[in-house]
This record gives sequence, structure tokens and C-alpha cells, in this order.
Amino acid sequence: MLLAPAHLAAQAPANATNPLASNRSNIERGRHHFADNCGICHGFNAQGGDKGPSLNTGQFRHGSTDAELYSTITHGVPGTVMPGNALPPEQVWAIITYLRSKIVAARSKIDGNAQAGEKTFWSSDKCARCHMVAGRGGTLGPDLTRIGATRTVQYLTEKVRDPNKELTKGMHEPNGDYVVPISNGTVVVVTKAGQRITGVPRNEDTFSIQMLGTDNEIHLFLKSDLKEVMHEEKSLMPSYNEALLSDIQLRDLLAYLATLR
Ligand code: HEC
Ligand code: HEC
Repeated sequence: MLLAPAHLAAQAPANATNPLASNRSNIERGRHHFADNCGICHGFNAQGGDKGPSLNTGQFRHGSTDAELYSTITHGVPGTVMPGNALPPEQVWAIITYLRSKIVAARSKIDGNAQAGEKTFWSSDKCARCHMVAGRGGTLGPDLTRIGATRTVQYLTEKVRDPNKELTKGMHEPNGDYVVPISNGTVVVVTKAGQRITGVPRNEDTFSIQMLGTDNEIHLFLKSDLKEVMHEEKSLMPSYNEALLSDIQLRDLLAYLATLR
């Protein structure tokens, strides 16, 4: 990845429009540059990843005109991990063409009942057991305070019905080349005494591992004290099939999640 100080990044005039818009080969080139430079944070399909928001919702907080996108991509977003890039202009435009091609009908209105969804979310055996919203809830899963702004309805639906599907998709490029470790997977450790603890990894280096266990406790181990450390590409989140969450409950839940922004 090429990182540029903001003043070196190429400037697009405020009224610039994409010279490489809408052409299949530009979409394909953009997909390639996106996978190389952006996929690790935003997910290889731009659907969002561990470190970056979805870019396929059709809504960009930092501006959605061609010129604004160009500026966000070249300058980054100061104060966040979104870096500036010194990519040649034709690569930036190809990426913008690609991103526009990925926008799904994500903002399609959900006619669910957000209040009913909120109840489901906070009922004791459901989502809040593992997820926080605005400082309340569990910590095993990611904070969902802004999930309605950063994820598409399609992504959220798949996540609830089949959590492992997106987990895997976020890791491989469509052609299967790339594998990027994601910190949201599951880790299982076995102590020398034979105790097995499952959870999500928080911090890990050659000698130690810190994890949040399914018991909601933080565990810190020296690897020399462990018999085994196993990383699994699967989510600790349950798959909510229709027996656990009816279609109507899911629709209401999505309506609630959409209000979290
Ligand atoms: C190290 C992780 C990382 C990399 C690499 C990265 N981004 Fe980002 N990007 C982010 C984060 C985090 C944000 C959200 C910033 C914020 O809080 O507003 C973001 C925001 C954006 C936005 C603005 C979204 C909006 O709602 O306005 C765009 C567009 C974007 N990135 C495109 C790209 C492109 C294109 C690349 C590759 C050239 C890229 N990003 C590389 C992390 C990353
Ligand atoms: C047993 C704990 C647990 C429960 C219960 C649970 N989740 Fe999760 N959830 C997780 C974990 C761990 C992750 C991170 C790994 C992953 O992405 O699958 C996650 C990820 C997610 C994500 C993806 C967040 C992102 O930024 O991409 C969403 C959305 C989500 N959960 C929604 C829900 C909803 C809605 C419910 C209730 C129907 C729920 N979860 C119940 C543990 C849980």
C-alpha cells in the first residue's frame, strides 16, 4: 500500500467527474486495486470488514460525489485509521467505478416494527447478551451502536441467519487467493492442566495471548503454560434460523438495527 502525506496526494477539482465511469473493464480493474489496497479493512467485496465500514450502502458520510470520494480516498479520514493513498488518479477513478457498481439496494425501506425489534434485541437470551449498544450490553461480540450506518440490510440479514458466511467472505478474495486473518474468529486454548477455554482473541504475540472467554472474563495466558492454541474461522455468534427467530421477528430486528446510527 502506498501512503502519502496529505499535501502530496493528488487533488481532484471540486467539480471533477469520474472519467472512467461505467465500463466493465474499469469495474474489473477497480476491483483488483480495491482488493490490493482496501479490502483488508473494508472487506474484499466492499461489504465492510473488521476495520472499515461497508462501502456498498450508497451512503457516504464524507460525501458521495465523484470529487468527494476522490478526496476521501486520496487524503484519508484524519483521526481515523482510514489512510491517505498515493495511488495514480486512474486507479482511484477505477476504484470509484468499482464501488459504484457494488452499491446494493441497501437502503430499501424495511417496513418492520423497530420497537418490537428492540424488545427482541434486549430480551435476555438474544443479542444484547453479547453486543453493546450505547454502552449497555455484552462484550463478546462487536459494539453495534452505529451498525445501521455502516452495514447494509443484506449484510445484517446474512449475519443473523448465518454468521459464518460473511465471516468467510471477508477473508477470501472472490478468486480465492487471499486469506486475511480476522480477529473476530474464535480461539480455543487448552491449558497444560487440560482445561479448555473458548472465546475471541483480543491481543496475541509470540509469547502470550489475551482473550475474552465465553464466560465473559478476560483471560491472559503465557503460551508456555498452554498445551494448545487453536484459531477457528468461525463465529461464536449462534445462527438464528427460523425456529429461533421467525421472519417477522427478523424483519422487526432489522428495522431496529437500521435505527442505530
Ligand atoms: C487501515 C484500514 C483502512 C484501509 C486500508 C482503507 N480504509 Fe477506507 N476507511 C477506513 C475507516 C476506519 C473508515 C471510516 C472513517 C470514519 O470514521 O469516518 C474509512 C472510510 C472510508 C470511506 C468513507 C466512507 C464514508 O462513509 O464516507 C471511503 C470512501 C473509503 N474509506 C475508501 C477506501 C478505499 C477506496 C481504500 C483503498 C484505497 C481504503 N478506504 C482503505 C479504514 C480503511
Ligand atoms: C453468543 C454471543 C452472541 C450472540 C448471542 C449474538 N452475537 Fe452477534 N456476534 C457475536 C460475535 C462473537 C461476533 C463477531 C464475529 C462475527 O462477525 O461473526 C458477532 C457479530 C455480529 C454482527 C457483525 C458486526 C459487524 O460489525 O460486522 C452483527 C450485525 C451481529 N453480530 C448482530 C447480532 C444480532 C442482531 C444478534 C441477536 C439476534 C446477535 N448478534 C447475537 C456474538 C454474538
